[in-house]
Amino acid sequence: MCAGPAAELGITLSVFAEAEDASAALVVPSSPVGDHTVAEAVHAFAQHCDVVTFDHEHVPAHVLDLLVAEGVELHPRPAALRFAQDKLAMRERLTELGIPCPRWTRADDAAEVTAFGDAVGWPVVAKTPRGGYDGKGVRLAASADDLADWLERAEAEGTGLLLEERVPFVRELAVLVARSPSGQAAAWPVVETVQTDGICTEVLAPAPELDDDLAADAVHAALRLAGELDVTGVLAVEMFEVVDAGGPAFRVNELAMRPHNSGHWSMDGAVTGQFEQHLRAVLDLPLGSPRPHERWTVMANVLGGDYPDLYPTYRHVMARDPEAKVHMYGKGVRPGRKIGHVNISGDDLADLRERAAHAADYIQGVVTE
Ligand SMILES: Nc1ncnc2c1ncn2[C@@H]1O[C@H](COP(=O)(O)OP(=O)(O)O)[C@@H](O)[C@H]1O
Ligand SMILES: [Mg+2]
Repeated sequence: MCAGPAAELGITLSVFAEAEDASAALVVPSSPVGDHTVAEAVHAFAQHCDVVTFDHEHVPAHVLDLLVAEGVELHPRPAALRFAQDKLAMRERLTELGIPCPRWTRADDAAEVTAFGDAVGWPVVAKTPRGGYDGKGVRLAASADDLADWLERAEAEGTGLLLEERVPFVRELAVLVARSPSGQAAAWPVVETVQTDGICTEVLAPAPELDDDLAADAVHAALRLAGELDVTGVLAVEMFEVVDAGGPAFRVNELAMRPHNSGHWSMDGAVTGQFEQHLRAVLDLPLGSPRPHERWTVMANVLGGDYPDLYPTYRHVMARDPEAKVHMYGKGVRPGRKIGHVNISGDDLADLRERAAHAADYIQGVVTE
């Protein structure tokens, strides 16, 4: 999705792809295939780039370290990226910075799980520190027994588990900001994200009826984090909205340092979309305006369903709603996998939600008219 904005700006992209038919490789002519866990292979690729950035968080530290040692211009840099790769490192740093988080601990054995659950209340939320996405690597535990398999693996690998109190949130929010190596930063409005079974299904931009002070605090925290962690490129800060004694407040859930699902609405709903902004940021170009074009933009994710061939659905979706903007990722269809999204902007939020959901459901094949 960076390919469109890159072409418009005359920026040449090259993708280090995991496979010849990887989505990005299908749209970027220069896409050598290789293994992102092999330092020499990534370095051989990076030598031909002015700037290297990422579309996922899973490039291992030893690969990143080699690139930095060889003078490759990496954004975000490994020292920042760590906090998006490792949820325990992230919790520690946020706590040091005084940013509100769920109560948390690291647990290495069943006794530590029991002690934490007894202290904060059951069930607790357990997370594998690395490699999770879309709720994979997140589990509710009513007792230490529920985590026996994870504890065994965590012990074997010496990684530990992240335990958190189960936050009684009102809803989930996200703040997306971009920051350049020169330190310029820009924030899009706070959005509401709706997850179903741990997967984000809908984003409302901006978050409806959000308290003004909470919105300002949330944006301030995200910008401060971007600065403190020296993030370059796009940073997504996922949050829970809660009700404290003093009124509405937030707890930070997790960080992503790349364009993020919570920012897909901006591709059509803001003056500068997140993919263009990420390119501008990592190239240290002046940032574009994050201002929304319209009162509301609703994004609905298209998840994989039973039908592998999606193209026949376009005729109905496009005819029914000429305002709908359809973005498909060229990924193989697997049930529950995020394979595309639909954006619609306008004034009537309830109507936009209904239309975006209908278009996404129709492409997925769960509604047929
Ligand atoms: N401490 C928590 N309390 C309540 N719900 C949580 C907590 N942590 C995660 N969740 C729920 O699980 C979802 C996925 O968790 P997250 O840490 O964001 O993992 P992932 O890397 O899979 O996105 C969150 O969006 C939220 O709905
Ligand atoms: Mg998440």
